[in-house]
Amino acid sequence: MTEVASRVVAASGAFKPVADFYFRSRYADRRFAEGIADFTFGNPHEMPLAGLVTSLRERAVPGDQNWFAYKTSEEEPAAFVAERLSAELGLAFETEDIALTPGAFVALSVAMRLVLEPGDEAIFSEPAWFCYEPMLELAGAVAKKVILTAGSFDLDLAAIEAAITPKTRMVIVNTPHNPTGRIYDADSLGALAGLLERASARNNRRIFLVSDEPYRRLRFEGRDFVSPAAIYPWTMISYSYGKVLLAPGQRLGYLAVSPLMPRADREALRDACFPTQMALGWTFPNALMQYAIPDLEGLSIDIAALTRRRDTLMATLSEAGYEVLAPEGTFYLFSRWPSGGANDPWNALADRDVFVMPGSILNAPDYFRISLTASDAMVEKSLPAFREVAQSG
Ligand SMILES: Cc1ncc(COP(=O)(O)O)c(C=O)c1O
Repeated sequence: MTEVASRVVAASGAFKPVADFYFRSRYADRRFAEGIADFTFGNPHEMPLAGLVTSLRERAVPGDQNWFAYKTSEEEPAAFVAERLSAELGLAFETEDIALTPGAFVALSVAMRLVLEPGDEAIFSEPAWFCYEPMLELAGAVAKKVILTAGSFDLDLAAIEAAITPKTRMVIVNTPHNPTGRIYDADSLGALAGLLERASARNNRRIFLVSDEPYRRLRFEGRDFVSPAAIYPWTMISYSYGKVLLAPGQRLGYLAVSPLMPRADREALRDACFPTQMALGWTFPNALMQYAIPDLEGLSIDIAALTRRRDTLMATLSEAGYEVLAPEGTFYLFSRWPSGGANDPWNALADRDVFVMPGSILNAPDYFRISLTASDAMVEKSLPAFREVAQSG
């Protein structure tokens, strides 16, 4: 028995493998040690973007007495985001379609609270970002997990279709995808839209799609990106500036309702954003981040540097016998452990002060994830370690 609410117990249980890794592991003990190569989480290992620092400095100086007054999703920055997002995705967003949030986390949480009744089911595909499930648990919903297609990590549409029940209310698609770096193309998204349309008709209840796109601007070789919001009208986008700026501690993002959504539904959702964000605990970005949006919009971490690290690591890993998937976007590299290498390769790497995210906490125990936000020095240091671990079987 515990005094803690059962939803919290469930959320905590779903997050336990990650919490254990983050707080109580060899990695937790060593994370700030000098000289380690840290490829675990998408955290910065170099100084922040100069443009971000300048903007925050300048925007911290109050322009009037309301500078730090309560902020909602303020009209001026929301209008700015609507205009830029319209140009980026080729869709006509209105200011009211944008609910500014402290990152994609809150955007997802708002989306869940907007449409999920207790006991409703939300489908997502694994391996997946590890917070969907605890967030659904806390919202009183049920996580229904399906597996991405083996090897390619494409959406398995037949598996999604088979997981749909009369209780299905939401499907979450993450593109570009953490951890695999896959970007789903218009054909597979179109097929998904078709099946969601048919299932919604069969259920006589709309299934919403949440397109979780925090890595949308981080794409290799300038690859195309199509948002599900341009394909399935009942889509809400969750976005974060935390990835493209590599500053996830400065919380900023939004939930955007697809302009293709029929007017009545679109207005119902966007009108419900304010009370949802208020009741979730005034979950609006802080004043400073809202003022900074126009300065931040054009900034990005160095994609050429990510590409260089990706290529260096991929070359070494492939040569050493790892099966590496070439990421199309995100700042991650997803790889299978080499067969015939060390029988506990995560610890064998950790013995060499190289820390990666074990696939076991992503429900993909044969794999591991490398965050390319590590420094070039960390990449250099890791190369012999990766080779040795592949050869030490
Ligand atoms: C797929 C995915 N969605 C959402 C988030 C949350 O992003 P933020 O912390 O910037 O809100 C993350 C962060 O790792 C993520 O990987």
